[in-house]
Amino acid sequence: MTEWSREERYRRLEDVDQSQLETLKQQVETSMYRQTFHIQPETGLLNDPNGLIYFKGKYYVSHQWFPLGAVHGLKYWFNYTSKDLVTFEPHGVILKPDTLYDSHGVYSGSAFEWEGQLYYMYTGNHRDESWNRVASQMLAKVEEDGTVKKLDKPVIAHQPKGYTSHFRDPKVFQKDGQYYAIIGAQNNEELGRLLLYKAENNQLEEWALVGELKTELEAFGFMWECPDYFELDNKDVILFSPQGIEAQGDQFRNIYQSGYLIGNLDLETLQFNHGEFIELDNGFDFYAPQTFIDEHGKRILIGWMGLPEINYPTDSEGWAHCLTIPRELTIEEGKLHQRPLKALEKLRQNKETALGYANKFPTTLRPYEGKQYELIIDILDNEASELYFELRTSKLNSTLITYNSKQQTITLDRSESGLLPDNVEDLTRNTTLDTPLKQLQIFVDTSSIEIFCNDGERVLTSRIFPDDISTGIKTSTESGQVYLQFTKYELKGED
Ligand code: FRU
Repeated sequence: MTEWSREERYRRLEDVDQSQLETLKQQVETSMYRQTFHIQPETGLLNDPNGLIYFKGKYYVSHQWFPLGAVHGLKYWFNYTSKDLVTFEPHGVILKPDTLYDSHGVYSGSAFEWEGQLYYMYTGNHRDESWNRVASQMLAKVEEDGTVKKLDKPVIAHQPKGYTSHFRDPKVFQKDGQYYAIIGAQNNEELGRLLLYKAENNQLEEWALVGELKTELEAFGFMWECPDYFELDNKDVILFSPQGIEAQGDQFRNIYQSGYLIGNLDLETLQFNHGEFIELDNGFDFYAPQTFIDEHGKRILIGWMGLPEINYPTDSEGWAHCLTIPRELTIEEGKLHQRPLKALEKLRQNKETALGYANKFPTTLRPYEGKQYELIIDILDNEASELYFELRTSKLNSTLITYNSKQQTITLDRSESGLLPDNVEDLTRNTTLDTPLKQLQIFVDTSSIEIFCNDGERVLTSRIFPDDISTGIKTSTESGQVYLQFTKYELKGED
């Protein structure tokens, strides 16, 4: 991996020669791993989804962006709008690091509506002369023509006493007519925390600390990034991405985690009584998700299909990462369920179906192959001890999903998937389902797989980098028969 100097990482897009950018763009376009129905960077590195909102008939989806290569350098917001969250129109940079306060990065933040106008609250990342981090929370107004005007100074100038400058990622929400911002923080004992601010006297420019949220997680990692708060089915839900949690069995296997707490939050006392922290995704590549309300009033989640500090195979091509497909959230049996956005059905083409016993499928299924598709597998009768689905297969590659009927576990094995991130040691992810496996709904794009188990009960999201000719789909069983219904759609995004 080529090392990037600090100077190179903090080079401004505006200072780079157009022809250099064009060369990089052309290089990225030739990558065989480019996605077709996921948001991906045109060059450079994408990370967190930012500023998600449905506003005046349009969706706004931005993401963290370092344009010049696959490293975490000077961050911008790249913006898309969409009519349906299925296809997206790119608009380029919407927020750039052009003030003293955000000179070293326009970091993550959220969108909200205030008196009929669209605003962003985000973290301004600044480094002083000794390279000490200075974090503040900034506001920007989005004009009708898509340009933005930043307020000339931060609305929250620095972290409160008792906390370090790891103070970022404000999510603004409204409750009972009052605007609040929930912000990720680290206290002086280097423990992750969440801070709540409110707009004083309902003035946009004056945000005051309400206090630290009192959760039942006393020592749970060193930093909590990208918090989110929302109400769903009369419950309070808090999402966040904690860093510094040790793996425990099948849980918390990735470098950093993201998950949720469901409970009741008292905004007067800041007491949050909640259940256990549950990971949102059990795959290899998922982090920093955010939610918003869609045009139908549904709560939608989009995540970053990637993780910090992991080296991906496309890094050498000058780009990395993508966003996940949007997922609709509900609470069922006290847990979040996540289903692919219904509107994604618009991408479906060339439906193919098959019905039969699993180990007869290798022959019957030969036409069922591809690189971009949705596959729904209904398990109608299962007498096997193990059930195997191999996707993107060839003589050399195979992405293997195993279901163990007795243990009710799903295993995703990407050891033979193709190229791999070079600093992730384990090659499988396991999750134990709450109920026996009835259905898998799998979205495959050129270099990713998103596996929804049992109609939203569990999701496993991963990047995979198979070769171009690995397009097969296979199924087989161990001791016993399984009767299956396959439904496959080609998904037609934009190449
Ligand atoms: C999460 C994160 C955020 C921060 C942003 C910077 O991935 O570290 O906490 O705002 O990325 O790009």
